[in-house]
Amino acid sequence: MTPAGFDRRVALLAGVGVASTPALARTRVGASPRFLWGVATAGHQIEGGNVNSDYWVMEHVPGTYFKEPSGDACDSLSRWREDIALIRSAGLNSYRFSVEWARIEPEPGEFSDAALAHYRRICVACLEAGITPVVTLHHFSSPRWVAAMGGWEDFAVVDRFARYAEATARTLSGVVDWFCTMNEPNAQVTSKVLQRKPWAAEPGLRAAAARAVGSDRFHMYFLGDSFKVRDVCLAAHAKGRDAIKAAIPHARVGMTLALQELTPGTGGEALYRRIFAEARAPFYAAASSDDFLGVQTYNKFETGAGDYLPAPADAMKDMFGYPTPPGALAAVVREAYTHAKVPIFVTEHGNNTNDDAQRIQHLRSAIGGLEAEIAAGLPVQGYLHWSLLDNFEWSSGYVPRFGLVAVDRKTFVRTPKPSLNAYGSLVRNLRRNRPWA
Ligand code: BGC
Repeated sequence: MTPAGFDRRVALLAGVGVASTPALARTRVGASPRFLWGVATAGHQIEGGNVNSDYWVMEHVPGTYFKEPSGDACDSLSRWREDIALIRSAGLNSYRFSVEWARIEPEPGEFSDAALAHYRRICVACLEAGITPVVTLHHFSSPRWVAAMGGWEDFAVVDRFARYAEATARTLSGVVDWFCTMNEPNAQVTSKVLQRKPWAAEPGLRAAAARAVGSDRFHMYFLGDSFKVRDVCLAAHAKGRDAIKAAIPHARVGMTLALQELTPGTGGEALYRRIFAEARAPFYAAASSDDFLGVQTYNKFETGAGDYLPAPADAMKDMFGYPTPPGALAAVVREAYTHAKVPIFVTEHGNNTNDDAQRIQHLRSAIGGLEAEIAAGLPVQGYLHWSLLDNFEWSSGYVPRFGLVAVDRKTFVRTPKPSLNAYGSLVRNLRRNRPWA
């Protein structure tokens, strides 16, 4: 399982910028602050130039459903120090980001020392800034070779993922305590229940992607049109978690789930129950042996007979017209804890809007609701806002605006929005007045 020569490489990488400064000693792993207040991002959405990934392939095939390619994204591959400085400037104490499998293991079994050292350096810089890193191993994108070998509809990916998880965790040992294995493995299952045909599964696109990677087995994370992907992902999560713990026994490991607030509307009882049974219950059951469950909430939907019902006219809505009531966060946190019975970590929550005043209102109100749950005794370990930056929003390209910070698409200059400051003040205020915060 351990890649050949890996111990030697870890020993070398362990030297990457980890001089035991007093700042680092104060913030090092194991001394995590009580409540993690921070932001979340994902590698493919901010780094740029992720050319060895399956998403890059799909963004470039003729007729792609992506509005535009990810290109340079937010250039965070070089500007990550600026990102950390922004988080620090707001007084936040946590940063969830994802490491890119395609960079760490560009070919099967071939690990990049430079990529591993790069991610370790980011973690060290976080600790030096008083920021607890939370690392996601798989945030949708996989290496091309994983996709070419059958991706996430082939159980063979489970061992591949575990090998990558162990290699990464061994390198990050001593600088990371919190790991998310996989991001939203239940999202695709929800789409399947709703009978939404994955765009990427369109035969022409699939064939073009297969040609691009030279394999007719091409399969990427959101391409599955069966429930098998759920079993593969849950197996990968469990084996990945064990691999992380083999490298870092005290690591806190969980997966993150896409959990919109869901209620049965008129005629929507059966669909509600089906979504719960297929896309939530099995994941809650699996999470019950984890250290935490990552909850990710943006919207609230009411089920009708065959699909979600249209949003009520008076609901707060995001830029795409989806209902985004702030109370959804507390409702979902409660549901997740009731079923998984493990501590909850809000690993994403946000609002896709050009109206930053609405973002501030949404954030304040949602955190108010969360606070009430915590006061009532619900164990919540942290809240991470999605997202630090206006970034590459997958097939919607750069149109959506989830960021607390705007990014110039030509120069990549970052300009904080008022919401970054408002979030920081909210946190400062809670820390003064609430013992848990
Ligand atoms: C995903 C992010 C995405 C966000 C907003 C979450 O489901 O984890 O990658 O950008 O939603 O759509």
